[in-house]
Amino acid sequence: PKFDLVIVNGVVVTASDVSSFDIGIKNGKIHTLAPSWNGNAIRPSWNISRVFDSTTYQVMPGGIDGHVHLCQDLTTGPNPCPLGLGGQCADNFETGSRSAVCGGTTTIITFATQTRAEEDRSLLKVVEAYNGRAQATGSYIDYAFHIIIVRDDKDVLETELPVLVKKWGITSCKLFMTYETMRLQDYQLLDVMLAALKNSITTMIHAENGDMIEWLTEKLESKGMLAPHYHALSRPPSVEGEAANRAIVLAELIENPLLFVHVGSSASANVIRAAQTRGLPIFAETCPQYLNLTWEDLKRFHSPTCFENSKMICSPPPGPDSSDQDALYLGLHNGTFTIFSSDHCPYKYDDPHGKMVGSFRLIPNGIPGVETRLPLLFTRGVSTGRITPQKFVELASTNPAKLYGLYPRKGAILPGSDADIVIWHPEGSLPPFKLTNRHLHHNVDYTPYEGMEFDNWPRYTIAHGKVIWANGELLGSLRDGKYLRRGPNQLGKGVAHFKKDPRRVAAWVHG
Ligand code: URP
Ligand code: ZN
Ligand code: ZN
Ligand code: ZN
Repeated sequence: PKFDLVIVNGVVVTASDVSSFDIGIKNGKIHTLAPSWNGNAIRPSWNISRVFDSTTYQVMPGGIDGHVHLCQDLTTGPNPCPLGLGGQCADNFETGSRSAVCGGTTTIITFATQTRAEEDRSLLKVVEAYNGRAQATGSYIDYAFHIIIVRDDKDVLETELPVLVKKWGITSCKLFMTYETMRLQDYQLLDVMLAALKNSITTMIHAENGDMIEWLTEKLESKGMLAPHYHALSRPPSVEGEAANRAIVLAELIENPLLFVHVGSSASANVIRAAQTRGLPIFAETCPQYLNLTWEDLKRFHSPTCFENSKMICSPPPGPDSSDQDALYLGLHNGTFTIFSSDHCPYKYDDPHGKMVGSFRLIPNGIPGVETRLPLLFTRGVSTGRITPQKFVELASTNPAKLYGLYPRKGAILPGSDADIVIWHPEGSLPPFKLTNRHLHHNVDYTPYEGMEFDNWPRYTIAHGKVIWANGELLGSLRDGKYLRRGPNQLGKGVAHFKKDPRRVAAWVHG
């Protein structure tokens, strides 16, 4: 056969195996996989326009980042999104997808956001407007959308969710249990979850107890504890643990699968683990910030009298020390966590709209990390032996593809899959280096991981068979990325789902 590109002698790592393969790529797809042949020689029968000899390089499916905030522009539009608390989302599809590529990611899923404004009632209009933002710049890599739902208008849910699935291939929604202008009450959560379930839409949930946060924030403010790091005290682990437990109880009632996003504490991970052990279809995500940052990092750039924006505010906050980090690594290893995403939510430190005026409560929540996601997990997870290379691929690519209905087009190195591939430096060939924000390609003026040492970085990123990042150089174009319509969650509905129980609510409530 005639190939456009062949990768020979790579150490191909998938979610299940590590073995030496030659990969033949044609028309942007993986066409042929064959055991590496005769040293460095090419099979005589392979007619090849370009060969990539990647002997001893680890070759993996491109990263899939299922949690990226781009163009969630918060100071513009009719109703500024409260998530940003006045900050301006620093990355659009150009700078965000660029940054992703340079860190080995070939697919991103971003958020179209409903607000409580009347003109945002229609989810379809929200998605169309957001799609316009993506098309305005184009994208270096393929992208898809989640929908954030902040109200429970029954007519909209009934008429529009089927269209979102059918026309747009949007098969996941995110719901909030905190943030005054986004949160749903338990009654509303049940309503939206049931509507999502009926349309096979996966429910992502931001599980923090909004009332506890508000109460604690007022207490801290009344005592003059206003500096950025008090953000962490306003959200102790029980805030997350309580909400996770409540969300599970609500979801179990109607037998709705749930995905807990950005799980930051062992309190929450333990609740999730227990539900999974009971056979419930409960999935979970954790993020680099919870494995690599602590409360100390919230203070790094501040003094108690310096009221300015903070670089490290995210919700939930990272834990006080490394003990929760160990618990979260264990969760990556033992399957509690289904996926590993960045929750890239970029605000500039030097954003005039986002300056803290008076209290930590006014600092935009969110930190950048789409580019550092894979290298961090590689350096601190794979190189240290905490997780296997296969687990790495599962968490960072294969499971996101399955969870979000993109497999095996994405997240796999199989004949027929998109030729989206990341190739690392051979072990030990890249001298360990200290990261600085100048290395990165986002539009943010800091990285939370400044000064951290890395021992590897993606050397090549290939998308649709085209090399778009090579040896520190961006080669792609903003026309390379396409919108992805997705199918339903492919990870199953859990065992408890099928239990026969006369008290089972789902038996009659689904009708
Ligand atoms: O602090 C965070 N996580 N900001 C991003 C928005 C969200 O809730 O995911
Ligand atoms: Zn969230
Ligand atoms: Zn400061
Ligand atoms: Zn987020």
